[in-house]
Amino acid sequence: MKQVAILISARGSNMEALCRASRAPDAAYHVCRVISNRPEAEGLNWANTNGFESLAVDHKQFPNKASFEEKLHAELIACGAEYVCLAGFMRLLSAEFVQSWRGRLLNIHPSLLPSFAGLTPQQRALDAGVRLSGCTVHFVSEIMDAGPIIAQTVVPVLKDDTEDTISGRILRAEHQTYWPALSAVCKGQVSWDNGERATVSEQLDTSLHGCLDL
Ligand code: GAR
Repeated sequence: MKQVAILISARGSNMEALCRASRAPDAAYHVCRVISNRPEAEGLNWANTNGFESLAVDHKQFPNKASFEEKLHAELIACGAEYVCLAGFMRLLSAEFVQSWRGRLLNIHPSLLPSFAGLTPQQRALDAGVRLSGCTVHFVSEIMDAGPIIAQTVVPVLKDDTEDTISGRILRAEHQTYWPALSAVCKGQVSWDNGERATVSEQLDTSLHGCLDL
């Protein structure tokens, strides 16, 4: 079973979905630690009260990004993490950090990448008038929200959607998308060897992508 650490910054509902899935009898991974860069993150309370080891590494306590990341890296090594999932972790990681976890660092983003990378993707999707949106799980590369895609789930954009309603629908899709994608990576069914794209084993390719069952 692979050891997985989860990095969060606030609510942590994706972290919660990843943690819950890790308790299934046939789970491919164990959550060894939840780390937040914000001590007040709501998700830390959930992790604590539900038996997951958690820790705050407050970025504000460090003089610069390099020393914050050095501590983060040390904590990840100390808990035996083999894979790291960003789950609403709202700090940009340096190229050095990303390279040292290459192929073992995953992120989830609330849009169908490469559309709407960056902040407020749900509102920008509404503004653009797209009819379909969704979420993407991808390996993290040096370029924000641009690493090789592992899994995507599509959701409809409805006529009366607000940023809240579309965000909620996408979030429900995120909770159903992250853990199967992580599990596939942990089982060695997805890899990122070279180039821009991840390699997904053939039988899995279709099951990692889908539409949210409304
Ligand atoms: C999620 O929608 C996640 O995809 C997004 O932040 C939210 C965190 O919610 N992440 C990004 O936008 C990263 N670019 P959560 O804390 O409840 O999981």
